[in-house]
Amino acid sequence: MEADQIRQKFLKFFEDKGHQIVPSAPLVTDDPSVLLTTAGMQPFKKYFLSEKSPFGSRVTSCQKCFRTSDIDQVGDQSHLTFLEMLGNFSFGDYFKTEAAAWALEILTKEYQLPLERLRFTYFGGDKGLSADLEIKEIWQKLGISSDVILPYGREDNFWGPTGRSGPCGPTTEIHYDSTGQPCSRGDQCQPGCSCGRFVEIWNLVFNQYYQDESGSLSPLEQVGIDTGMGLERLTLAVQGVSSVFETDLFQPMLEHLNATPDDYHHRPKPYRILFDHLRGVIFLVSEGIEPSNVEQGYVLRRIIRRLIEAADDLQIKPDHLSAALKWLEDKYFKIYPEIQGAASQADLILEKERNRLSRAIQKGLSQLSAVGQQISGQEAFKLYSTYGLSPQELEKQGYQFDRQEVERAIEEHKKISRRGAEKKFGGHGLKEEGLSDQSQAITKLHTATHLLQAALREVLGSEVRQRGSDINPERLRFDFSFSRPLTEEELMEVSRRVNQYIQSGLAMTKESMKLSEAEAQGVLTVEGHQYPTEVDVYAIINRDGSIVSREVCAGPHVKNTQDLGRFRIVKEQSSSAGVRRIKAILEDD
Ligand code: ALA
Repeated sequence: MEADQIRQKFLKFFEDKGHQIVPSAPLVTDDPSVLLTTAGMQPFKKYFLSEKSPFGSRVTSCQKCFRTSDIDQVGDQSHLTFLEMLGNFSFGDYFKTEAAAWALEILTKEYQLPLERLRFTYFGGDKGLSADLEIKEIWQKLGISSDVILPYGREDNFWGPTGRSGPCGPTTEIHYDSTGQPCSRGDQCQPGCSCGRFVEIWNLVFNQYYQDESGSLSPLEQVGIDTGMGLERLTLAVQGVSSVFETDLFQPMLEHLNATPDDYHHRPKPYRILFDHLRGVIFLVSEGIEPSNVEQGYVLRRIIRRLIEAADDLQIKPDHLSAALKWLEDKYFKIYPEIQGAASQADLILEKERNRLSRAIQKGLSQLSAVGQQISGQEAFKLYSTYGLSPQELEKQGYQFDRQEVERAIEEHKKISRRGAEKKFGGHGLKEEGLSDQSQAITKLHTATHLLQAALREVLGSEVRQRGSDINPERLRFDFSFSRPLTEEELMEVSRRVNQYIQSGLAMTKESMKLSEAEAQGVLTVEGHQYPTEVDVYAIINRDGSIVSREVCAGPHVKNTQDLGRFRIVKEQSSSAGVRRIKAILEDD
């Protein structure tokens, strides 16, 4: 069965069960908790709460998704940046029994997956929440043997909310046994085992709680079903191959890349990166995204850079990349018509980025030439983190350094990035949703936000107050009360002041106190925000002892402003009546 049929069958199956088929929403979303759509449920988020769904209470879709947090894992058997997520949704309609029965029916009857290759995980209880024994019993009643219904904790079998508050609940996941053989861990080889035997194919979320900002859960009035199954992973299972890249969604690209299946099997990783990123690029470009240093444009720039590296590594010529892009456009055009014309657009963008990259490499290398061919591991790492110059590239250029030291630093850098993404997106459940970038970037932007508010109040007057703030690893967004657009001069003055505070290297201090005490001292708070009775006050004091900024805030912050780099405002616009919005970034000095 080809992937196109697999997708079609899913939608038809649920249509026959009374679901309305809803076309995919764009990747570019106005949901402030994510940069790009990362799950099938996102366009429907509000229908899980009070808003009535215009599509009825049963919906099915195949949603374009993009998961930046998985970039570093692309190359293994099942991780992707761009993916198509199949899902069925119930907004206060059916619940666990139907969702489980239909999942089993479609997998075993329609897709003919052998039951003995499936495992079922459920929420086994954790942190004060009781186990979901209801779903365990439902699986048993459907004839699943108890030894393949396995309990896991909150990390694995509890989903949401997206953002700080919202609907969430326990999940049951269906995993596919791709080899039929345990690894050397024997009986311990179960879903989640690092050997890669089990591929998680379907996540069924039972939205039955509402989590508020403080993290406490209360039962939802209207329960709901949110399921997500990656088309690529399902295709892996149906076609009986060992990785998503060996399905008909990717393999035909080899011919266009002027490569053979042998070439692929010889060096699967760079080919997989190429397959995934080519698809990611064309879909991002088809929505009008252009490479830049912020937000979606930065995501695009990053995957293009990796794509060029993989192509160079495999000695694949630009013409062949073009041919693969054209193939992708033709393949997806019927399902996502917006992709029409995107291949030639992507060609142009790739060429421009290639030129930009080689200029950056020249610049990075020119800074080295004075030191000679022997460089320190730290220096090599800096070239990687600043210019994206990989150790391989450096070696190719004839430089010598401690390769292990650099690899270790890169690994550490990636780990911090992943932790940062998890933190920003509220920990569990969203761990796959965030951006894999530096947690330090987020921390720095938090501090920059305080400096920005201080500078705005100095330049525009103390009636300026924070109305909202949103930070992701690439930029800060700050909403504040002010009734007219800022002039060019005002913007320049604000930036100048922020940069001056940065250069002065001022300490950021933290002090805990009662909220009432902070208010009495005139510390800034955000109107309408609910604070606990005991709060943290972050303060930045100028060299002459005057207060630059004092705000009630949960952090995180840097210890000293000197670590922030260069502050730059990229946009000033209206947010709503009487509220302006500034987006700003921090650049390396
Ligand atoms: N929303 C759930 C997920 O993305 C189904 O895993």
